[in-house]
Amino acid sequence: MITYSDRQISVISRKPVFQPAAALFTEREAKNALRFHRSLPDYRKTPLVSLACTAERYGIGSIFVKDESTRFGLKAFKGLGGSYSMFRILCDRLALNPETADYTIFLDEDVRRQCGGIEFVTATDGNHGKGVSWAAKLFGCRAHVFLPEGSAEARRQAIESAGAATAEITDLNYDRTVEYAAGLAEKNGWILIQDTAWDGYEQVPGWIIEGYLTMILEAEEQMQGKTPTHVFLQAGVGAMAGGLESYLLNRYPNNRPIITIVEPTEAACIYQSVLAGDGRTHSISGNPATMMAGLNCGTPCSIVWPVLRDGTSFFCACGDAVTEMGMRAYAHPVGGDRTIISGESGAVTYGLLLSVLKNDELRDLFGVQKDSVVLLINTEGDTDPESYSRIVQ
Ligand SMILES: Cc1ncc(COP(=O)(O)O)c(C=O)c1O
Repeated sequence: MITYSDRQISVISRKPVFQPAAALFTEREAKNALRFHRSLPDYRKTPLVSLACTAERYGIGSIFVKDESTRFGLKAFKGLGGSYSMFRILCDRLALNPETADYTIFLDEDVRRQCGGIEFVTATDGNHGKGVSWAAKLFGCRAHVFLPEGSAEARRQAIESAGAATAEITDLNYDRTVEYAAGLAEKNGWILIQDTAWDGYEQVPGWIIEGYLTMILEAEEQMQGKTPTHVFLQAGVGAMAGGLESYLLNRYPNNRPIITIVEPTEAACIYQSVLAGDGRTHSISGNPATMMAGLNCGTPCSIVWPVLRDGTSFFCACGDAVTEMGMRAYAHPVGGDRTIISGESGAVTYGLLLSVLKNDELRDLFGVQKDSVVLLINTEGDTDPESYSRIVQ
């Protein structure tokens, strides 16, 4: 089933089919999440950068990059999901209507007092934990964050300083750390706020995914009527990618964009699940090593798996060199294009796009043409500043 493979990039190409099940995350959910985010004191739309000189150099219509490196001062998009899901959980607990309530209600002293006794727990490579820590502080709650073995100390500290969480690095891989956090939630009466779903744990991750949709609503407004023909989405468990994919396939029924899902080779759980060909998800075991920490996840998110499996045109597994190339290209752009600070998990889609644009076989395969409109999401900035400087300089 592999359609293309070299030392750094492997591609599975599939004819996408649109299933009604893909209508999970639509405009309605997206609009409510955006409405909530707009009520936050730190809310500011992140920029959509047009890499016009690069697009011209490679003979395509446009390359747009939704740059999440400045979101809420957290250097990644993840706070969108952490804050919106916490809002929905608290609305449930305090019997507030989530369709009309917004953050301003949580400034009320009585409401804050009730939030004060609520504790959250999560497992994370870093960015989700930062978002949860920051959101817990916003709502006046507390959070406990556990990082998998090998996580950078800088990431642990960043979680604590982002807000109201304690953070600890475990000696477990990502999937085992999630199980550990779920066990602690049960034992201590904490609320698990996990950015992936499995059978029986769907509501909170569903809200997290709805929170991510704010990015695409903002991007659409910023694209001023242009519709993307190609969207490249990086995936860890695939929650962010699957949510945006579901939204896009529903939003443009007559001209659905070509979706490419991009993962690190070592932790390509979606790619491997598709390769297995039995329609089910498969996990990557052990402790996969990749510099793309945010994408280093072993099991696809159950809610979005059918959307990813059926609606995606290309599944790509990329080596670390691909994201390094993307990071450098964002940092040192051609012509008058704007510099974008992009970390290891943020830049892999750009590294892949450039590899496609430079290779005629891949250009044909991906159907890139002179009027193509590409949308990428830079999901993180320099979340590990030391590693970032080493790579881009
Ligand atoms: C920077 C960054 N990009 C992308 C992702 C992937 O998101 P998901 O796990 O929903 O696929 C993550 C996940 O933590 C991340 O931190």
